Amino acid sequence: MKIIRKPEELQKAIEALKKKGKTVGLVPTMGALHAGHISLMKKSVSQNDVTVVSVYVNPIQFGPNEDYERYPRPVEHDIKVCKDNKVDFLFLPTNKTLYNDNFSTYIYNNKLAKIMCGVTRPIHFQGVCTVVSKLFNIAMPTKAYFGLKDYQQYVIVKQMAKDLNFNIKVIGCPIVREKSGIAMSSRNTYLSEKAKQDACGIYKSLCLAKKQFAEGKKLKDIKKNIEKNILDIPTSKIDYVELRNSENLNEVTDKDKSIVIAVAVKVGNVRLIDNIVCKK
Ligand code: PAJ
Repeated sequence: MKIIRKPEELQKAIEALKKKGKTVGLVPTMGALHAGHISLMKKSVSQNDVTVVSVYVNPIQFGPNEDYERYPRPVEHDIKVCKDNKVDFLFLPTNKTLYNDNFSTYIYNNKLAKIMCGVTRPIHFQGVCTVVSKLFNIAMPTKAYFGLKDYQQYVIVKQMAKDLNFNIKVIGCPIVREKSGIAMSSRNTYLSEKAKQDACGIYKSLCLAKKQFAEGKKLKDIKKNIEKNILDIPTSKIDYVELRNSENLNEVTDKDKSIVIAVAVKVGNVRLIDNIVCKK
């Protein structure tokens, strides 16, 4: 596995490989790699000649009072995980190599970035779209892998690739969960054991909602039930519970056949997101 820190260097290496007809898979991450990230790497390795993983805690997607400084950065662990999973290139850029002193060009989704997580994190998706489009230009992948854990991010990146004519297939990968049901996340390290146990209630409430959707229960009743179940979790505070069209995140009616139920919940002071896709 080659570790590359400079964008130009990765671009050069990938250009040479693509000239030889090789396919390239990209897995963008912020590191503190866990089984969720590994599932994306494995898929990329199985579907492409070459796999690039990027590990970069992107400052421009964090709000002023968020956890940029505190975000875990276990670099040696991340290098080992990538090596063990047959990654070909590990891209480890720095703020300096990725953002020049006059950096001033941003990518923004004018519709999807304003809903759900975008309400309380107004600059988040602009930061995501900007860094992901940079990574697309640097790694020039054939396919790029994103987890459905961050469902809104997945839909926004897919839309961005379409809107901006990136010739890249954006692939959504299933959520990997701990045995308890809690969705794996680098931020789970912020949770105490007690909070982790409490947080299992989030997935339980989503599973129940999925069952109710399949049975034809009205959306407004499903939403009420989820809210009640989540509020029963000690120290929980709801940021949002949203039922939306699973393709485009449009608002839904009882006629919709495929929806995503997405939630953002604070357990103690840790904000967690989770979701479930439901079909009739
Ligand atoms: P990060 O949170 O590190 O996640 C990297 C990728 O792993 C994302 O596509 C995310 O959805 C996926 N992922 C995380 N937990 C997962 C789980 N439990 N199951 C399946 N996939 C999971 O998302 C980001 O980083 C950043 O916003 C990034 C796209 C890298 C841009 O900076």
